Amino acid sequence: LLNSIGYQIGTAIEQTRLYDRLAMAGERYQALLRHALTAQEEERKRIARELHDETSQSLTSLALSLQATIGMAEMRGIEDGDLMERLRKTHANAVHAGNEIVKLMKELRPTLLDELGMPTAIRRYAKDTLEAQGINISTEVIGVEERYQPEVEVSLFRIAQGVIGNIVEHSEAKNASIKLECDANACVLRIEDDGKGFDVKRLTRVDPSGRGAGL
Ligand SMILES: Nc1ncnc2c1ncn2[C@@H]1O[C@H](COP(=O)(O)OP(=O)(O)O)[C@@H](O)[C@H]1O
Ligand SMILES: [Mg+2]
Repeated sequence: LLNSIGYQIGTAIEQTRLYDRLAMAGERYQALLRHALTAQEEERKRIARELHDETSQSLTSLALSLQATIGMAEMRGIEDGDLMERLRKTHANAVHAGNEIVKLMKELRPTLLDELGMPTAIRRYAKDTLEAQGINISTEVIGVEERYQPEVEVSLFRIAQGVIGNIVEHSEAKNASIKLECDANACVLRIEDDGKGFDVKRLTRVDPSGRGAGL
């Protein structure tokens, strides 16, 4: 009998240790995830700042300078059609490149998120992105606060960004809906579209490049 009690106590102790180890591993995983997320956001912020301070400024001054050159050529009555055409195209290209950089900056560091908080930022991003593609969007938020912890805000916003990008890229949908429902313990974000759909079961492979099936 003593033997068997001893064995059972031993097993109980062993189990408690296992639980502790599991809990610690879980906490470590959470901490690592938080760290990775923050590091990635910091890097994105840095690149966005660089794009804003350097690249975007240079492109703006290039576009302005080309504009001025065109104005000058017109004032001097230059009648070389090919040259003028080429100048105008170059100017248009510089403006286009500038606009692309602005878009990229928005993706990298959504000031939306800093300014408005996650729920409103998701709603605004979805509306701007989807309506520009002619996709109707309806949103519903239930029980949300205006602000959450930064890692919660960033995670949910990035997830929404990815899913909304997928709707534009893959779905061929006409309508999409977003529902964000939070209580004191959890937030559930549900995004649907009425497009062609896809088989989740077939998305098991994660491409080593990091693209694909990251959803
Ligand atoms: N809303 C959607 N409608 C239809 N297919 C989708 C949708 N979202 C994702 N998919 C499918 O799931 C695949 C994986 O998506 P994702 O991991 O974001 O990779 P990527 O967008 O880079 O292809 C997509 O290639 C697409 O085939
Ligand atoms: Mg995608």
